[in-house]
Amino acid sequence: MRHLMSPLDFSVEELDKLLKLANDIEKNPEKYAHACEGKKLATCFYEPSTRTRLSFEAAMLNLGGKVLGFSDAASSSASKGESVSDTIRVVSCYADICAMRHPKEGAPLVAAQKSRIPVINAGDGGHQHPTQTLTDLLTIYSLKGRLDHLTIGLCGDLKFGRTVHSLIHALIRYPGVRFVLISPEELRVPSNIHDDVLVRNNIPFREVVRLEDALPELDILYMTRVQRERFFNEEDYIRMKDFYILNKEKMELAPENMLVLHPLPRVNEISVEVDDDPRAVYFQQAQYGVYVRMALILTLLEVEV
Ligand code: CP
Repeated sequence: MRHLMSPLDFSVEELDKLLKLANDIEKNPEKYAHACEGKKLATCFYEPSTRTRLSFEAAMLNLGGKVLGFSDAASSSASKGESVSDTIRVVSCYADICAMRHPKEGAPLVAAQKSRIPVINAGDGGHQHPTQTLTDLLTIYSLKGRLDHLTIGLCGDLKFGRTVHSLIHALIRYPGVRFVLISPEELRVPSNIHDDVLVRNNIPFREVVRLEDALPELDILYMTRVQRERFFNEEDYIRMKDFYILNKEKMELAPENMLVLHPLPRVNEISVEVDDDPRAVYFQQAQYGVYVRMALILTLLEVEV
């Protein structure tokens, strides 16, 4: 039995297979419409979500399976003090696979150790968000045609943004990838990414504060929101929250074929006027999230179509 805790749980070859499966699902949805008949997905979400929970549920429904779960710790027995370990033992009796989001880093891993069904980390604190990474990789792969030899700008809250951390981990495995890390001083990537991942692996990168300085050289601009829920005080959040606002004027500095991704939700960091720019692919990205989660469910449940 296999779980997904980190994007590194899949080798590059396995990821390639998963992305090709997702592309086939996109092209031939009817072929997969009954693949998970009789199977159930549990979504155990101890933290708010729109995209991740609903795209997991859409994915299982598209595969002919069923879904059950909770969307709020307060409506589960966690509110009475039940541990994640006990909860997953019980959920293992009711479902065939579980997607879990938790504010505590490592909670899905603790669950996986006690689980009798595959557990998918659907975001754990500021740590990792591997299925968002799979979504990001599928978006880049499908729209750019490759994951290698790309210059990727990561902009915004690089300190607390778990999607950024997972994406860096995943992309350093492809040749010719370089990063431009665009953030205020206070929100730079933490040392476990800067030193232990980028420096240690000799990955080319530079850190800049101004988005304008990076835009002309990018193949991909990955915008992120400032993670209000991870700040220790509101004043710091208010000071940082509108540090970056991507608008039409700034988009004029970007190459014609640059793509703008965002894991969403967006707050103010991308002006709505950018939505009509053909380079803005963040809503398409959310659609790719369904295909890649369908591919992931099939892979972890070892369903062959
Ligand atoms: N991208 C993402 O994780 O969105 P949600 O928080 O809405 O699931």
